[in-house]
Amino acid sequence: MFKKTILSACMALGIAATGYAAEHGEGNVEDIAFSFEGVFGKYDQAQLQRGLQVYTEVCSNCHGLNLVAYRTLGDEGGVGLPEDQVKAYAAQHEVYDPEKDDMRPAIPSDKFGDSQYDGAPDLSLMAKARKGFEGPYGLALNPLFRGVGGPEYIVAILNGYTGEEKEQAGTVLYENTAFPGGWIAMPPPLSDELVEFEPAAPNDQKSLSEDVASFLMWTAEPKLVQRKKAGLVAVIFLTFLAVMLYLTNKKLWAKAKRKD
Ligand code: HEC
Repeated sequence: MFKKTILSACMALGIAATGYAAEHGEGNVEDIAFSFEGVFGKYDQAQLQRGLQVYTEVCSNCHGLNLVAYRTLGDEGGVGLPEDQVKAYAAQHEVYDPEKDDMRPAIPSDKFGDSQYDGAPDLSLMAKARKGFEGPYGLALNPLFRGVGGPEYIVAILNGYTGEEKEQAGTVLYENTAFPGGWIAMPPPLSDELVEFEPAAPNDQKSLSEDVASFLMWTAEPKLVQRKKAGLVAVIFLTFLAVMLYLTNKKLWAKAKRKD
C-alpha cells in the first residue's frame, strides 16, 4: 500500500514535470532522444564520428575546442578512432610550437586550437554550459527525465534561423528563435547535404545538427559512459550491502528479541 502510494506520487511528479516543461520553460528547444541520455545511455560511436566530421568541415572554421586533445579521439566509449587515424587526424592540423617559434603539424598530445573567428566562443564545454529546458519550479527534475538539454539547445540554435538579418553597429545579426534575445552573430552554418558521410548516412540539416551536438556533448563530458557505469555499480553494491546489513541486524537481535 505504502509502496504503491510512493510509486504513484513519483509518477505523478514525473508526468507533471514533463508536462510543465512542455508548456513553459522550454522556449523553442525541442527534446531529442539522444542515445547518451538515461541511466543506461551510451554515446553512439558512428554518430560521434559523423559529428567530428561536421565540426571539422564546418564549425572549426570559426570555433575552437581548446580543452580537447586529439589523443582523446581514440578513447573507448567516445569517438573511438583507431590510433593511426588519430595520428593522421592530428597531422592534418597545425599548431604553434614555441620552441621552434613556428607552426608544425599537430601530434595526438596537442589540443584542438582556439576559435578563429571574432566573437565565436570555444565549444569544448558548450553542451554543458547551456541549458535547453528549465527545471519545473526549480525542482531540477528535468535532468532525471530528459537531460538538461544542452545538446538540444545546440540543435535548436543550428535550426532556429528564420532567414531575417539586420545590421547593428557594424555587425550582421541573424534572427534565431532559440537564441536568447532572438538575434545571433553566427551566420547560419548548416544546410542540407553540406557534409558527405562515408559510409553514407542522413545528411539533411537536422541530422547534421544532431550529429555535431552529440559530438559536442562528448567533448564536454567524455567520461559520461564510465560515470554512469560506476554509478550503476555503486547502486548495485549499496543495495547488496543494505540487504546484508538488514539480515545481520536481524540475526544479531534475534536472541534478545526472543527473550521478551
Ligand atoms: C562563420 C563562423 C561560424 C561558424 C562556421 C560557426 N559558428 Fe557558431 N558562432 C559564431 C559566432 C560569431 C558566435 C557568437 C554568436 C553571438 O554571441 O551572437 C557563435 C556562437 C555559437 C554557439 C553559442 C550560442 C550561445 O548560446 O552563446 C554555438 C552553440 C555555436 N556557435 C555552435 C556552432 C556549431 C555547432 C557550428 C558548426 C555546425 C558553428 N557554430 C559554426 C560563428 C560561427
